[in-house]
Amino acid sequence: MSESDMSEGDMNGDGAPKKTMGVDPYERNWMYISIGVIVAFFVLISIAGLALGIQVPTEERRVDPRTFADSAPWGEPAQEVGDGEYEVYVVARTFYFEPASIEIPVDSTVTIYVSSPDVQHGFRIQDTNVNMQIVPGEVSKLKYTFDRPGEYPYICTEYCGLAHAAMFGVVKVVEEGAEAEEAEEGEGAEEGEEGEDE
Ligand code: CUA
Repeated sequence: MSESDMSEGDMNGDGAPKKTMGVDPYERNWMYISIGVIVAFFVLISIAGLALGIQVPTEERRVDPRTFADSAPWGEPAQEVGDGEYEVYVVARTFYFEPASIEIPVDSTVTIYVSSPDVQHGFRIQDTNVNMQIVPGEVSKLKYTFDRPGEYPYICTEYCGLAHAAMFGVVKVVEEGAEAEEAEEGEGAEEGEEGEDE
């Protein structure tokens, strides 16, 4: 008896627990819709993150904003860390980026780390989905594969002072062979070098 009282809430205790939870049909339908929306969003976010490569910029780690910019590899050119894999550590400061130019071969995947030693900045590479908020002392990180040659300007997207509009740089994605690096053993199919220089 007492158990049934507990489970039925405000029943009168007549010992007739025939009604299960009385859920209004409308309410039940809205519950199904709510669950459906949550499941749909979960699936869409999973597709975006896993299949389409959409990333949410995350704080990768913290650094000391007073000193980090003085130590390698911050501010240095992009380093090759694997086959077609590059890393670059960008310092965003009033009012310029270090490095202001990032050169990589086409089809490279670049992991970009950015931090600021002074105030809040932004880092957005045009024609890509790379767009980060840069907070002093926090390292923002995103990865992007540049599969088309060309120049991709990057700009500061958060107002940081009088020369905010002058804060920009450029990613130069160059064709294989256009670089002066040691060419791999000749693949016969390749066209001779065009000698195109900028
Ligand atoms: Cu840096 Cu705006």
